[in-house]
Amino acid sequence: MPPLQGQIKPAHDAIGTDEMMFAYQEGILTCEDVPLPEIAAVVGTPSYVYSSAELVHRALAYRRAAGPDSLICYATKANANPAILRLLRDQGLGADVTSGGELFLALHAGFAPQQIIYSGVGKRQDEIDMALEAGIRALHVESEMEMAIIAERAAALQVIGRVSVRVNPDISADTHPYDSTGRLGHKFGVPQDTAVALLRSAAQDPWLEPVGIAAHIGSQITALEPYRDLVLFLVDLADSMAGEGIRLNYIDVGGGLGIAYKDEQAPGIADWVANVADVVHGAGYELVAEPGRSIVAPAGALLARVLYTKQQGGKSFVIVDAGQNDLIRPAMYSAYHPAWPVLEPDHGAAVTAVDVVGPICETGDFLARERPLPPLERGDLLAFMQAGAYGFAMSSNYNGRLRVAEVLIDGDQVQVIRRRQTYAHLLDGCD
Ligand code: LLP
Repeated sequence: MPPLQGQIKPAHDAIGTDEMMFAYQEGILTCEDVPLPEIAAVVGTPSYVYSSAELVHRALAYRRAAGPDSLICYATKANANPAILRLLRDQGLGADVTSGGELFLALHAGFAPQQIIYSGVGKRQDEIDMALEAGIRALHVESEMEMAIIAERAAALQVIGRVSVRVNPDISADTHPYDSTGRLGHKFGVPQDTAVALLRSAAQDPWLEPVGIAAHIGSQITALEPYRDLVLFLVDLADSMAGEGIRLNYIDVGGGLGIAYKDEQAPGIADWVANVADVVHGAGYELVAEPGRSIVAPAGALLARVLYTKQQGGKSFVIVDAGQNDLIRPAMYSAYHPAWPVLEPDHGAAVTAVDVVGPICETGDFLARERPLPPLERGDLLAFMQAGAYGFAMSSNYNGRLRVAEVLIDGDQVQVIRRRQTYAHLLDGCD
């Protein structure tokens, strides 16, 4: 049954584990030791299901590969569930935040302020104040105006503002256009000459302390070369600042390591880290990285139930109870998520190409298109794999739909880490 096998792949990439955290056991898809139908029965559908073993494994893969003199700051935007943040904090990761809300969540999860960095092109003054008052490791500055406001607020609050400059290296990386961030035509970071000027002015400002340089060239990048170019560029820049007497502590290479959603050949975590760590450590700097997707995506699946099936216009539709408000990546980036029937199909089973769609009133509301799947019936369960990153995090209440439950599995333990919303949530903040 080649087409189906082609899409049913282990959630693992080549980072050296034998076990698969999502796998068929006796014909039923399980997460660690828990069969997914059990979760559907207890928690309902749709639900996000996460494997804590997979999360721990991936966090530790980063830490082990990076070694001492490194800080792996998990990009909380990928998935900021408090229980997941705590789990990753317990593995010794720091946090990369991008708003006051994420800073709040990171502090709430117990990350030490010194292990939190704050990136983002549009920090409001109240968010800058919050970061300065919390005493985080550094604000990553993305414009001259922002640096001036940080200096002003640090003086007003009588605290030293530690800053890094996010430089735009003008390096292209092959990914979806919305996920590419490292070219000068993108809004992110500042050009090299501006970065130098900003570091100089920070060094002279009594209220600022320049501590690093940072870059982030994009997301879902499956090549190592752009990172090699990036790290050589960053080390050169840091060394040239050191030549002027401005000694930076760390070099932050950003995040962006891709995963295999379909048939991409993505590097493993250890290889990705090794590719940057030797250059950074060799030059005497601390390594900082900001991975998101590569830690959480393979650890999560969106579990949904088939509501109806129908044929029209020469097509077969499978209508499920999850929609683009729950997982927007297919609609937004034409992203591919493997769709695994929870009951393992027979290996000889016939497959037909179907569109798996949700209840939302938009033609773009699909989770899989032209996907070879075995016959599915009302009540059957489907799991959309590799959905732990930018899944729940990008979900919304569109079409009056409730945000779904999130469940963390640890061995045979099932923990609801976010309850499904109720209709009362739709009135939040309204009279
Ligand atoms: N650091 C910064 C400054 C970032 O902007 C991002 C992601 C990361 C780190 C983490 O990148 P990662 O390791 O997760 O690739 N919603 C899109 C992805 C947007 C990524 C935004 N920035 C998607 O679902 O593909």
